[in-house]
Amino acid sequence: MTDNIAAVPPADGYLGDPAVRAEWDNRYADRHQLWSGRPNGALVAELAGLTPGRVLDVGCGEGADAVWLARGGWDVTAVEVSGVALERAAGHARDAGLTVRWVHATLTEAALPPASFDLVSAQYPALLRTPDAAAERALLAAVAPGGTLLLVHHAGMDTQHSHDSDFDPADYVWPSMVADLLDEDWEIQVDEQRPRVAPDGGAGAHHTDDLVLRARRLR
Ligand SMILES: C[S@@+](CC[C@H](N)C(=O)[O-])C[C@H]1O[C@@H](n2cnc3c(N)ncnc32)[C@H](O)[C@@H]1O
Repeated sequence: MTDNIAAVPPADGYLGDPAVRAEWDNRYADRHQLWSGRPNGALVAELAGLTPGRVLDVGCGEGADAVWLARGGWDVTAVEVSGVALERAAGHARDAGLTVRWVHATLTEAALPPASFDLVSAQYPALLRTPDAAAERALLAAVAPGGTLLLVHHAGMDTQHSHDSDFDPADYVWPSMVADLLDEDWEIQVDEQRPRVAPDGGAGAHHTDDLVLRARRLR
């Protein structure tokens, strides 16, 4: 593991675009708790039958998934741009007596050990799209041979155009863009839209359907 991976988030060790951190810090700071505090339904459903190993939680937010995974015996590394969210996440893990490696960085700047996670889980990760598909490639590069990528997003957002916000779907990475990069080294196990097992409460509770991409790295 690299030096920027620590048991508690470093105060000033953030690796990534300061504007992205500021945007998300502001969003989290607006509310005492932004998300539901429960693990995501698609993650819980897709993990049935998987043996716990090393997992990377991408865009872990306030840490509900990371804590749930650690409680289930996974060795968890969680990467997140918002220091506000990470402090909450680390607090939840501490309260539960669980250990998680928190990485305060954008996925692409996190200097994660390559090809070393049995599971890479990205639940509604809001990754910015770049011409070189850096975020998509970073997701794939983190998965160990034999490991699984699980990418879940809100259905409909990839085509949603809002007149009253700055949100432009063209700015973000969607599951179809990652699926497009999967070659013969990957087996697609799930690539579908389905009803979401929505958590009670939280800012995303109104989303009704998920896009779920699950792929296994063969070699
Ligand atoms: C919609 S929230 C989802 C949070 C969490 N996965 C959940 O399901 O509750 C997206 C999260 O991704 C984080 N994020 C955005 N861009 C990121 C990046 N490039 N690398 C890592 N985290 C990022 C945001 O700060 C935010 O916490």
